[in-house]
Amino acid sequence: MSDIVQVAEMLRGAGRVVALTGAGMSAEAGVPTFRDGGGVWKNFRPEELASPEGFARDPLRVWAWYRERRAGLARIEPHEGHRVLARWEARFESMAVVTQNVDGLHHRAGSQRVFELHGRLDETRCVACECRIVGLDDLGPDPRCACGARMRPGVVWFGELLPVDTLEAGMELARQADVCLVIGTSGVVYPAASVAEVAKQGGAAFVEINPQPGALASIADVCLRGGAVEMLTKLDDAVGR
Ligand code: OAD
Repeated sequence: MSDIVQVAEMLRGAGRVVALTGAGMSAEAGVPTFRDGGGVWKNFRPEELASPEGFARDPLRVWAWYRERRAGLARIEPHEGHRVLARWEARFESMAVVTQNVDGLHHRAGSQRVFELHGRLDETRCVACECRIVGLDDLGPDPRCACGARMRPGVVWFGELLPVDTLEAGMELARQADVCLVIGTSGVVYPAASVAEVAKQGGAAFVEINPQPGALASIADVCLRGGAVEMLTKLDDAVGR
C-alpha cells in the first residue's frame, strides 16, 4: 500500500483532523521559509528583526523589513494545498488548522477554523494601548498611534508569549484529534511544535508532510516526502468526497 493510500485510509476513518502548518506550507505560494536553503534566517538575525529588543534598538530597520514582507504578501495568493485544507472543513466532522504562519493564506483560501499562533503580518498594533490596524497598507517608515506611541507589527516575536487563548484552543484540538497532519514545519520552535506532540500523546495518527524530515519526524506514523501542494492534492483525490 502506498503512503498516500495509507494516509487516505486514516483520514477516511477520522472524525477530527488537525493540521499544524509552518512556513513550508506557504513556500509554493512564494513565501520564503526561515531555516532551509534561502530561508530568511540564513540572511538575517532573528534577534535583530524579530524581537522586542531588536525593535527597541532600531525600529526603522525592523519596520523596513516588515514593510517589504507586507508588500510581498500583497502580491501572493494561496495555493491548491491551502484550498484543500479549506474544503476539508466540509468533509470532516472537525477540521482545524493551527498555524505558525503569519501570512493569512489559510483564511484567504477559505479556512474558517484557523488558529494563528504567531499573529498576523497584516496587523499592526500600538505598543502602549489596545489600538490595532488591519490591512497590508504601507503605514510609512515609523507608524504612530493616535495616542502618540509607536506602532509595531502584530506578530509574535522571539521571547514573547503566544496568545494564550489561541494556544489553548490549538492544544485542545490536538488532544481530541484522530489525525494530525504536520505540514511544512521544521518543528523546532516551541510551544508551536508541542501541538503536534500533544496530538500524538492523545492517540492521534501523526502524518508529516515535508520534502525533508523535520524535528518531529521521529514520532510520525507516516511521512509523505514531497511538497504541500502535491501531497495535499493527492490526498484529496485519494480520500474522495
Ligand atoms: P522553517 O523555515 O523552520 O521550516 C520550514 C519547513 O518547511 C522545513 O522543514 C522545510 O523542509 C519545509 N518545506 C520547504 N518547502 C516545502 C514545501 N513545498 N512543502 C512542505 N514543506 C516544505 O519554518 P517553521 O517551522 O514554520 O516564528 O518555523 C517556525 C517559526 O520559526 C516561524 O513561525 C517563525 C520562525 O522564526 C516566528 O516568527 C515567531
